[in-house]
Amino acid sequence: MNYIIITGASKGLGEALTQKLIQKENHLICIARTKNNNLIDEAEKNGVKLDYFEYDLNNTTGVEELSNKIFTNIDKGNAKTISLINNAGVVDPIKLVDNVYTNEIQKSLNVNVVAPMILTSAFMRFTADLKIEKRVINISSAAGKSPYPGWGCYCTSKAALDMFTQCIGAEQAEVEFPTKALSFAPGVIDTEMQVQIRSSKQEDFPLINTFVGLKEKGRLLQPAYVADKVIELLFAEEFKNGSIVDIYKL
Ligand SMILES: NC(=O)c1ccc[n+]([C@@H]2O[C@H](COP(=O)([O-])OP(=O)(O)OC[C@H]3O[C@@H](n4cnc5c(N)ncnc54)[C@H](OP(=O)(O)O)[C@@H]3O)[C@@H](O)[C@H]2O)c1
Repeated sequence: MNYIIITGASKGLGEALTQKLIQKENHLICIARTKNNNLIDEAEKNGVKLDYFEYDLNNTTGVEELSNKIFTNIDKGNAKTISLINNAGVVDPIKLVDNVYTNEIQKSLNVNVVAPMILTSAFMRFTADLKIEKRVINISSAAGKSPYPGWGCYCTSKAALDMFTQCIGAEQAEVEFPTKALSFAPGVIDTEMQVQIRSSKQEDFPLINTFVGLKEKGRLLQPAYVADKVIELLFAEEFKNGSIVDIYKL
């Protein structure tokens, strides 16, 4: 069985990923604040195991406990591979840095960095004794590499996630059965996150017209296309630990 934990499974890229991974050989473990009944029904119809945890990853103090609940559903003896896709993310607050306040900064960093770090750390402890393929894909962004005015929290969080990925690569380099981590910048995807970006104010996000233009010119990637690329990486022979992969450079 391939055990695959997917955060942010309720919509956007996470939903597309989950949908494509509804296959007999997979046991899916989904996390999001809201339930996606279509996914649950589809899995049931196809006889595929899917556990769904409605959880707010901004509540970082409970993530360790959430991890423990998740791992009790995993039968180590039956695991062929085990993976974690840290996909849940928030772009807000979309505001210049002098306009953002404590709660907004905390929420961005909690969901985009702290929760993925806690989940990954718990994942590594749980799987330490397993002599199988253990992979973490962190869904990052090109915004982790370039400063976008108005996205101070988002860019910072994705840069942190990329560095976290690289640290795992360095730490696990000499481990016999390592956890392998990879950061993936998925391109500009046609999801609710882009709707939110296009509905921001020019004064908060000076680059808004670039993103409006991408949509108008039909340049956004479809979630299903991006999900295929993530799944290819998830099961690829070649998975360079600590690497940062950009969809436009595949
Ligand atoms: N869309 C793009 O153009 C783009 C570009 C680069 C990178 N990315 C990255 O790709 C990933 C997926 O983005 P997307 O475009 O699919 O975004 P989306 O459509 O807004 O979906 C975000 C997902 O994250 C979950 N989520 C958000 N806050 C959460 C919280 N507090 N607790 C638990 N789950 C939470 C949402 O579920 P609930 O609302 O149900 O909780 C949802 O399933 C993100 O990491 C994003 O940064 C996206």
